Amino acid sequence: MTRTAVVVGGASGIGLATARALAAEGFSVVVADVNSDAALAAAEEIGGRAVTLDVTDESSVAAGFASLDDLEAVVSCAGLTVPGALTELGLDQWQTSIDVCLTGSFLVLKHAGQRIVDGGSITVISSLNGRQPGAGMGAYCAAKAGVTMLVEVAALELAPRKIRVNAISPGLVDTPLTEGLALVPGLVDEYLENTPLGRSGRPAEVADMAAYLASEKAAWITGSAFDLNGGAHLQRYPDVLGKIRALSS
Ligand SMILES: NC(=O)c1ccc[n+]([C@@H]2O[C@H](COP(=O)([O-])OP(=O)(O)OC[C@H]3O[C@@H](n4cnc5c(N)ncnc54)[C@H](O)[C@@H]3O)[C@@H](O)[C@H]2O)c1
Repeated sequence: MTRTAVVVGGASGIGLATARALAAEGFSVVVADVNSDAALAAAEEIGGRAVTLDVTDESSVAAGFASLDDLEAVVSCAGLTVPGALTELGLDQWQTSIDVCLTGSFLVLKHAGQRIVDGGSITVISSLNGRQPGAGMGAYCAAKAGVTMLVEVAALELAPRKIRVNAISPGLVDTPLTEGLALVPGLVDEYLENTPLGRSGRPAEVADMAAYLASEKAAWITGSAFDLNGGAHLQRYPDVLGKIRALSS
């Protein structure tokens, strides 16, 4: 029987790499993303299927999951960052981060949890910022800390059905999301100075962990958040706010 996996936010970056990795493991992969064209292109590349889905819209998430049968693995990657000082951040900017990163994760967990087969696996991409504060990153940090806790609660609630729920917390990974960081002088350098292994991550490195968590090899792992960051959690987060302010002064 075909094993189905869905990668939410699978059209780019970490999600796209995860879709490729799960396809290589023999899953029939559904790429679910708000960006329909990119989702189609990704699905074509890996020989999978595309679904248009907006994680901030419950009817869209519900419809996307309702179309899936024999769902064994879910990886939730949709996310974005809206930087800004808390004293200056607009409520709409705060809401955007919370809606996509936190509420989106809740909606995916809710509908994935209803649809996935007993014994399946759900992995949510959290962030280093779920445990490490960064000036200028308040909304994102709060959302990702919430994601990590939500994953623990989901692991408890879904354990009776032997469904495993885990989080991966990457540090800086080279994806379209982080391309713009190079435009802020000194920001990436400061990040790497605070990363013991001295480099950023590759999407495939996160995808490998996601594929592992979706596999039988991880059958005894649930409710865990995995730091994947070259040791960056051992040091401090760069001063994003200071660097952005320096840019505009
Ligand atoms: N890149 C990093 O350095 C990094 C570090 C830590 C955590 N993360 C997290 O990893 C995840 C993937 O990030 P990435 O770097 O691959 O970003 P990316 O921008 O390359 O990919 C994100 C994908 O999510 C999709 N998406 C955005 N909003 C959506 C919505 N409302 N509904 C459905 N899909 C939506 C986008 O269309 C895109 O395909 C995010 O949750 C991000 O917060 C990234």
